[in-house]
Amino acid sequence: MPRYPAHLTGDGLVNPFPGIKALERRLNRTLPHQLGSNEGLDMRHRALREHFGEAFTEQVYRYGDAEAMGVRTRLSAQLKVPLDHLLVDAGADSLIALALRTTCEVGDAVIATAGTYPTFGYFAKGQGCRLEEPAYREAPGVLAPDLDALAAAAHRENARLVYLANPDNPSGHLHDDDGILMLRKALPDDCWLLLDEAYGDFRDDADSEFAARTLPGVIRLRTLSKAHGMAGLRVGYAIAEPAVLTMMMKVRIHYAVSAVSLTAAEVVLDHMDEVRQHVADVKMRRERFAAHFQALGADVLPSATNFIGLRLPSAELAAEVHQALLAEGVLIARLAHPKLANVLRITAVEDALEPGRLDILERAIKEHA
Ligand SMILES: Cc1ncc(COP(=O)(O)O)c(C=O)c1O
Repeated sequence: MPRYPAHLTGDGLVNPFPGIKALERRLNRTLPHQLGSNEGLDMRHRALREHFGEAFTEQVYRYGDAEAMGVRTRLSAQLKVPLDHLLVDAGADSLIALALRTTCEVGDAVIATAGTYPTFGYFAKGQGCRLEEPAYREAPGVLAPDLDALAAAAHRENARLVYLANPDNPSGHLHDDDGILMLRKALPDDCWLLLDEAYGDFRDDADSEFAARTLPGVIRLRTLSKAHGMAGLRVGYAIAEPAVLTMMMKVRIHYAVSAVSLTAAEVVLDHMDEVRQHVADVKMRRERFAAHFQALGADVLPSATNFIGLRLPSAELAAEVHQALLAEGVLIARLAHPKLANVLRITAVEDALEPGRLDILERAIKEHA
């Protein structure tokens, strides 16, 4: 069984603010006269009403439901995941930080692929963890987190947690379900697997039974930032065993997700046709984009996400292209990690497909093909 830090076990730590919504549910009644709250309930908010309208402004007075019941109920029905296997927080980033806070202590070793989504390493080091980074597996047409190397590093370093983005950012690589199960099996029993599935909705098998499965020793993270287009509102969720989520709730910043965000997420989740259409459009653009750059002779990495990774012949060329595009007001992603400095990542939005938008990149590819 993966471990928790000693200071989280026992009875000492109790969240002082489970929230009014949770109290109402416990009492099985509404509390229309909330005289014990110190929020600005009498504020008129004329400016906000004028700017955003009534429906928005009615949401701003109160803290959001710390248990996010409305969002979890919808996710539970849609994903067929039991309600108590779901926890909502302020985006996948907050969930990464929360998972680290729940599982790791200062000095613990954590493992992530060198050059993968850098926020994990940033948060881990900021929490005093020791980050070990095995290299990607690289071959023609392949840039993939190396699962064997992750497991070997976990054993070697006596790691508390292994992070894997699946599909991965920036490579776009997807490990199949068997690969994930084998990784879990290969890890030490007391080591957590933090499985970041921020791009899971773009998988062709996003609706599979496995996508909804709770895996022992695994904390799965998802977000409404990508497929649901709500990055600015900060909503994400974890899927894990109830006992793990109870521990995460102990140290979660209880009002981190605003009432506005929760309500907006409920509205979006009630209109999944729009989300599905968005995902289908993204995949179509991604394939058009990949085919276009392949035809130019680029090393296009296969992607199960909403972006395409292009591996350029050198880090210098990637830096040059990145800077030249930036000077024209075009921002593409170039990863900071020295191991992946030759990879450029471009999101499959309509703007990227505008003729001429990426001329500089196209010229560079043709010249070096
Ligand atoms: C792999 C990965 N995880 C997490 C995130 C953060 O998502 P959120 O907006 O939900 O915090 C991103 C965003 O780019 C990502 O690429």
